[in-house]
Amino acid sequence: MSTITDGYLDNPIFPIVSAVAEESGVRAFVIGGYVRDCFLGRKNNDIDIVVEGSGIALAEAVGRKVRSKVSVFKNFGTAMLRYKGTEIEFVGARKESYRRDSRKPIVEDGTLEDDQKRRDFTINAMAFSLQKNDYGALVDPFGGIKDLAAGIIRTPLDPDTTYDDDPLRMLRAVRFVSKLTTPEHPFHIVPESLESIKRNSGRLKILSKERIVDELNKILLTARPSVGFKLMDQTGLLEYILPQLIKLKGVETVEGKGHKENFSHTLQVVDNVADEELRGIAAGTLKNFEPEQDGDGFIETVRTEPYVWLRWAALLHDIGKPVTKRFDPEAGWTFYGHDIVGARMIPKIFQSLKMPLNEKMKYVRKLVGLHLRPISLVDDGVTDSAVRRLLFDAGNEIGDLMLLCNADITSKNPVKVARLKANFDAVKEKLAEVEAKDAIRNFKNPISGDYVMELFGIEPCSVIGELKEYVKNAILDGKIDNNFDQADQIMREKALEYGLRPVDGS
Ligand code: CTP
Repeated sequence: MSTITDGYLDNPIFPIVSAVAEESGVRAFVIGGYVRDCFLGRKNNDIDIVVEGSGIALAEAVGRKVRSKVSVFKNFGTAMLRYKGTEIEFVGARKESYRRDSRKPIVEDGTLEDDQKRRDFTINAMAFSLQKNDYGALVDPFGGIKDLAAGIIRTPLDPDTTYDDDPLRMLRAVRFVSKLTTPEHPFHIVPESLESIKRNSGRLKILSKERIVDELNKILLTARPSVGFKLMDQTGLLEYILPQLIKLKGVETVEGKGHKENFSHTLQVVDNVADEELRGIAAGTLKNFEPEQDGDGFIETVRTEPYVWLRWAALLHDIGKPVTKRFDPEAGWTFYGHDIVGARMIPKIFQSLKMPLNEKMKYVRKLVGLHLRPISLVDDGVTDSAVRRLLFDAGNEIGDLMLLCNADITSKNPVKVARLKANFDAVKEKLAEVEAKDAIRNFKNPISGDYVMELFGIEPCSVIGELKEYVKNAILDGKIDNNFDQADQIMREKALEYGLRPVDGS
């Protein structure tokens, strides 16, 4: 662990806050995540300033000095301003933190130490002084620096008190372990805190789903999300968040045959996705495809940040397994249709967590529903038409689907892994070939409904849909190329079977 980030106090806002605080006769300190991350050598653009006095008043005075707009959150007693790329939040030191009823303004002022005591973890309670006489001195009454070096998540007060102040902190403890752990420097929650979380896990129920999902997303976006999910499972928190995942646990054995342990497999897949995604981002090979606003094409951009919805897709990819599990004396354990059943479960799961039922949900549902397709294509000999259909069904999500599919290969049997990887590579190659040849990714039927109605002089009816479907299948099956002339010709031939002839006699 590096001891401190060079230039940690170089931010030009610090001397300004220091001078304004002195003029105003109050003491101000940098506190929380920024201080912690300085010692971890991590970049953090969010600065929290705690003031012995009014945080809002100091923010307003600083805002006037640097001519920056100040946003005031009266109910929380906080104010925020932006200065040269950093976001600076000011808060008055409090005796009591994080009130359960946040609509009430915070009235009880306190000293720095009162405030530090009511923070979540020792590593988040460290402060740097901004007073002239000891500028930059570390104020660390609870040994946060030692805990940071030892990789320990500990609450400054009795954990029951700290978690009672705000039960979300139980999830935050998990998140910090997941986020800060590296192979060289693992973090863990101290036993008494872990026991307290187990005792209090049910208190998650009182929190809004939005706050829970916010933490979940942060855990999912860490480099090794399995660390966080295992801890959530171990402490009982998972039961109150995603009980569906718990059903993936365990191995049943019949006639000496067991199946894959689907919980650890799922977590392995999420980690694999995180690895692959981070590799792709570093290499600049991971792409996003957004449909064009006015047009039929799509805009390709390079992905620079992990995509949380891809991680959700990995987390839920096998969610349909428990309900589809069967034992067949010949085939052994099967999970037929778990892809389809899993995809159908997605809207309900999103709804239960009050997550958006918009295109993000549809993205996750699509990936869960298609996650078996790339590999299963091999059974059909990876034909052009099967690949075209996969491209059609996956559309712009084909890259993410392939990434997920690759991450899903986790067998302990090296021979099986080698075979599946070879199959996967074959599909990947064929995909590139078909992509280069046919414009299927953003398929748009060359024949429109309006065109059919005008050509045959008919009113809206089911035949129009059937003709369009016929053309689409002809293209996907490779009978015709994806262009208007060939599509028009085959559509006219088919229309004859319905007794339809062009009104202009063409
Ligand atoms: N804090 C707390 N209890 C909470 C949330 C926050 O005590 N439920 C305190 C901690 O001291 C924390 C600080 O407020 O360090 C800022 O909170 P936040 O910005 O959410 O987290 P950071 O610690 O800054 O970490 P990160 O930026 O990684 O989210």
